[in-house]
Amino acid sequence: MSSLEQILMDARLSMSKASSLPELEQAKARFLGKNGIVTAQLKGLSLLDVEARKLAGAAVNRCKAEIELLVESAKERIAEADLQAKLAEESIDVTLPGRNPGMGSLHPVSLALERIEKLFASVGFSVADGPEIETDENNFAMLNMPVDHPARSMQDTFYLKGTSNVLRTHTSPVQIRYMQEHSKKCGPPYRIICPGRVYRCDHDATHSPMFHQIEGLWVDTGISLADLKATLTQLFRMFFERESINIRFRPSYFPFVEPGVEVDMEWESKGGKVKWLEIGGAGVVHPQVLRNGGVDPERYSGFAFGMGLDRLAMLKYGVNDLRLFFENDMRFLRQFT
Ligand code: PHE
Repeated sequence: MSSLEQILMDARLSMSKASSLPELEQAKARFLGKNGIVTAQLKGLSLLDVEARKLAGAAVNRCKAEIELLVESAKERIAEADLQAKLAEESIDVTLPGRNPGMGSLHPVSLALERIEKLFASVGFSVADGPEIETDENNFAMLNMPVDHPARSMQDTFYLKGTSNVLRTHTSPVQIRYMQEHSKKCGPPYRIICPGRVYRCDHDATHSPMFHQIEGLWVDTGISLADLKATLTQLFRMFFERESINIRFRPSYFPFVEPGVEVDMEWESKGGKVKWLEIGGAGVVHPQVLRNGGVDPERYSGFAFGMGLDRLAMLKYGVNDLRLFFENDMRFLRQFT
């Protein structure tokens, strides 16, 4: 047997014995390294004459290539074995009970929503909802915003290609859905809140293209702006657990209410400065909107409001950047356990 064949046999044995990457590296160096066995053979070629050198050179190179292949396949074998070992070690039994069942927590926006729902439930409101993909009809037309109405441009709408649908820009279309559905069956009183996601093409520290609103609607005989103010004042006092909270109604315009107001809340910032912060819009439901909902405006009146839920959560929990709510950073979320 030539010495090259012997070398190859040794190499085969060494590579198949290597059971880890460092071991394999060592074995490889023994043959192909600077002072390796094959390298020595290549160096020895210089002693031969030209013709013999050609032949022997080719044979040594073949041997070298063969060993390189052996190394590669050993590498694959070891990697596969490592993977299997790792999988075996990390396998989890999903039927075991959780290690720390107390770990999870609600998102701060959900926490705020839960509080608000409880407060409204305690005075007889129920929770209604509607789809996030809404018809143009419900999002706009039924709320007194026909196709060419300028107020449509107040809301940076996401339109759905090739349909007359939009991503709802506010939770107010739920007013329409709820009234239409219930006016067929029983009629007012209606007392609902409708929390949910809404979408507008807007993005910075205080605006996100998706955010949350909570709509409120109370339709009954003799409902007035005074009821709206009393309800919201009481809500804020209970939500923030502070008797001293002041709210302010600023005249404003929304096509689906008359009169319409913007609702501000007095808030003491960290430095002790008192500021007015806008929380949402509200007003006395427009007679045409009641009619669109199948309610007789001669008999009934109502108030509606739409508040920024994220904004309320920011104030409640002292969060200064809206984007934190949607980044799902565990360090942020863990603070609410
Ligand atoms: N839907 C209005 C908005 O998102 C808020 C609003 C709701 C105003 C109900 C009045 C009555 O801008």
